[in-house]
Amino acid sequence: MRIALTKGRLEKKTLALLKAAGYDISELEAGTRKLIFTLPDSGVEIVLSKAADVITYVEHGVCDMGVVGKDTIMEKGGSFYEMVDLGFGKCRFALATKKGKDVYGGYKTPVIATKYPAVTKAFFNKKNMDVETIKIEGSVELAPLLELADGIVDIVETGTTLKENGLEVVEDVAPISARVIVNLASAKMKKAAIQKVIAELESGLEK
Ligand code: PRP
Repeated sequence: MRIALTKGRLEKKTLALLKAAGYDISELEAGTRKLIFTLPDSGVEIVLSKAADVITYVEHGVCDMGVVGKDTIMEKGGSFYEMVDLGFGKCRFALATKKGKDVYGGYKTPVIATKYPAVTKAFFNKKNMDVETIKIEGSVELAPLLELADGIVDIVETGTTLKENGLEVVEDVAPISARVIVNLASAKMKKAAIQKVIAELESGLEK
């Protein structure tokens, strides 16, 4: 059973969950630059990768399962089963603008800066609204401040980044949290083993 975990923001909580679920993660806790770890006496191998790559590895079946944020799932899509909402890594996608600005007003197509163009287009599509998206790689909040965009669609966790930059949420787009995804073939071929891991993770969540 090979499981891909998302490095970075979700990493600490995912490792804590594995530990609570009864896995020996001491090698992972050692803080090395290693990327693949065999968990003792479990038949489980852990792969550490970037969020979007977790989906790629699970889709291609080189990893049976993955833990990844709903944000990446919504942006990248793909063929896999989304089996469990782990409930941590909670935040949301939101549309935000400079305080007092009306993104929906005016006759011009709104320009929205985002790291998530697919999520943004889907959100405005649902409203039957045209939108021009500009892809930004980080600190998206800069785009409306520099007058590049009318607004942003971005992740909001505490709201501090928006507040400290004079921006405000106009509308929530979608809730986000960490999810367990499973390869389509593995779900059939390794059903029992996957159900066992999921049951262990769920018991870890209760602790
Ligand atoms: C994310 C997001 C916001 C910030 C929101 O950025 O893009 O900028 O966190 O968090 P808050 O509501 O708690 O202030 P991240 O830290 O991942 O950095 P990045 O913008 O460079 O991608």
